[in-house]
Amino acid sequence: MDRRLKGRIAVVTGAAAGLGKAAALRLAAEGAILEILDLRDGSAVVAEIEALGGRANSTVCDCADEAQIADAVQGIEARHGRIDILVNNAGILSGRKPWHTLSKEEVERYVNVNYLGYFLVTKALYPLILKSQTPRVIMVASRTYFLANPGQMAYVASKGAVMGMTRVLAKEMGEQGIPVNAVMPGMVATPGTTEHSQEEAFNRVMGNQAIKKRVQPEHLAGLIAFLASDDAELITGQMIICDGGGYLH
Ligand SMILES: NC(=O)c1ccc[n+]([C@@H]2O[C@H](COP(=O)([O-])OP(=O)(O)OC[C@H]3O[C@@H](n4cnc5c(N)ncnc54)[C@H](O)[C@@H]3O)[C@@H](O)[C@H]2O)c1
Repeated sequence: MDRRLKGRIAVVTGAAAGLGKAAALRLAAEGAILEILDLRDGSAVVAEIEALGGRANSTVCDCADEAQIADAVQGIEARHGRIDILVNNAGILSGRKPWHTLSKEEVERYVNVNYLGYFLVTKALYPLILKSQTPRVIMVASRTYFLANPGQMAYVASKGAVMGMTRVLAKEMGEQGIPVNAVMPGMVATPGTTEHSQEEAFNRVMGNQAIKKRVQPEHLAGLIAFLASDDAELITGQMIICDGGGYLH
């Protein structure tokens, strides 16, 4: 594997499982030193990275809780003094439920984790991002915003807000030379999605793609690694979909 991220400090949220785990493994394989933040214990991912000769640390942290984020950031600052790559990925998926049956609390939960969480983590790490020579901010959003999936109003709205945040941050952080982009996969089988969807749903989605191949966590991880690399220095404010052409606008 190309070591184009050698020595870069990368924070990936929600990397104990699913897409975040694949991103952490890929960034580590390219030479980055990983900091994993997750509600769940990420030590198995750390062990996997170390077994492959990489360096990683995990912190149990609710990425929607400002105090827990502050504690985690303090640890990262003490270990590294800066970060180079932030991947905001920690999120909650959803099943389908008519919008008028959603309670205020249900909608708030999606907004708090999927949108406010990205804002809080980015804000807390901003002083450490400013110390990087090669800073990158990457948001995992969702193409469901474009598809407008019926029954997923709370999820889709929270992920759509991430795109709004990405576009504004790209302009504001552009002043400091920091690229900010959003990536979104097709429907990928992860612990989060298999809780709500059966095998045939993944195959149905694949059937609507231009390239009929199931999107895997590793496909998105490759895109994230590219955006973290030197080659992507001037790509910013973009919404990049990796879904085999399932959504063509
Ligand atoms: N899998 C897909 O098809 C798909 C498609 C589009 C977008 N996404 C987005 O990708 C991201 C990852 O999804 P996934 O499919 O890997 O989900 P997943 O549920 O498999 O993994 C999510 C990880 O995030 C962690 N997490 C959840 N809430 C957290 C919090 N408050 N603080 C810290 N960690 C938290 C979980 O513990 C878990 O380890 C999400 O933001 C999701 O919206 C996924």
